[in-house]
Amino acid sequence: MKFKDIAKRVRNRIQRAGQGISDRGKEAGRSVRSIIGSFSDEYIESAFRKARETIAPERDFLPADFQLRQSYWPRRLYERMVPVSHVFRMGMRYKREHLEDFMPISPEHYIGRGSYKFVYSLPWKMVLKISRRVLPSDPIFGSMYREVDQRPEEFLSQEELALYDFLCEGKGKGKRDRLWSQFLRLGMERYHYAKVREALPDLVLPTKFFMGVRYRKKPFGEGHYESIRPMDSQIMLVGKHLKEFASAAVHSEQNKLMSRFFPRWDFEFDVGRFGRIKKKVLLKITEDFRRLIEYTETLAREEKLILDIHTENLIITLPEFELKIFDFHLFDEHLYESTQGLASPEQDHIAVLERFVDSLDLH
Ligand SMILES: Nc1ncnc2c1ncn2[C@@H]1O[C@H](COP(=O)(O)OP(=O)(O)O)[C@@H](O)[C@H]1O
Ligand SMILES: [Mg+2]
Repeated sequence: MKFKDIAKRVRNRIQRAGQGISDRGKEAGRSVRSIIGSFSDEYIESAFRKARETIAPERDFLPADFQLRQSYWPRRLYERMVPVSHVFRMGMRYKREHLEDFMPISPEHYIGRGSYKFVYSLPWKMVLKISRRVLPSDPIFGSMYREVDQRPEEFLSQEELALYDFLCEGKGKGKRDRLWSQFLRLGMERYHYAKVREALPDLVLPTKFFMGVRYRKKPFGEGHYESIRPMDSQIMLVGKHLKEFASAAVHSEQNKLMSRFFPRWDFEFDVGRFGRIKKKVLLKITEDFRRLIEYTETLAREEKLILDIHTENLIITLPEFELKIFDFHLFDEHLYESTQGLASPEQDHIAVLERFVDSLDLH
């Protein structure tokens, strides 16, 4: 296909997507409002309380992936010089900021990262995700981000909005704008979560989103550097990435340039290595994959949104052998497409999932 055709197609998509946004916003806004109201959802609260009282499992049981933990040396050096130390949740009380929920973290507890978050295991059975800074031009900032900007009160609590106002006092325009983009990102993360959770409530891992302060130890002397960032926490999953069920992940045939920047692998799945699994359990997980695929397709078709379900964003818990979704990022189709250069990006992920389901060999 000629470049001109691609450009035209993308432009059309953007226009079409623009028309769909306002309706979708109204619908989803409603469901998010109920999410904000449902912070005290007793089921989630009690699950979190229990996790908080449970000592974290050994690292070996976590969905380990060396690649996801590895950083280049400048980053490692930086982490050694100014190591992360702890985090507080930041609220607003008595007309000023209020820090609570002390969460100790350290470079050794860094268990993974994607493009958007650094993930740390806490001493109890939960993980903490700290948003990475990304450029304003990042594909994640699409139509849903703009919706949050248009109606922030539907995605951020009164307390969070009051906190924003408080933090802005005496600050210049540049600072205020940067701070606002952090709050918008918090709202957007919550929006993504609410949307996926609405469709697949039992597969989605309960998540709490909040504004937090991260502390790094200063290299010389006492004290810390502080950074205000959107964060979230989840119960710690024990299991493996879908990728790790692949017995032979070999590079697809691609030209040099593509394989450098957009590497792809051919997966052969091998469930046998993970012990004997009851047929009933296999049927259940097949069904869950089917629902996930269906939802991803519907979302792409009807709302032009891409759920990023590659094999590092799906975990199968062990020993239960259950599918869990813990990363809910939704991308506008045209933005996602421009990064990957694929005609229908969700199909690529779906093909991998289907291969996995086939490998369970239930026929
Ligand atoms: N609840 C969890 N339990 C255990 N490990 C997790 C959990 N959430 C994330 N991780 C690990 O951290 C990695 C990155 O997390 P993710 O939420 O996908 O971040 P990003 O949004 O940056 O992609 C995952 O691939 C996984 O290895
Ligand atoms: Mg991810």
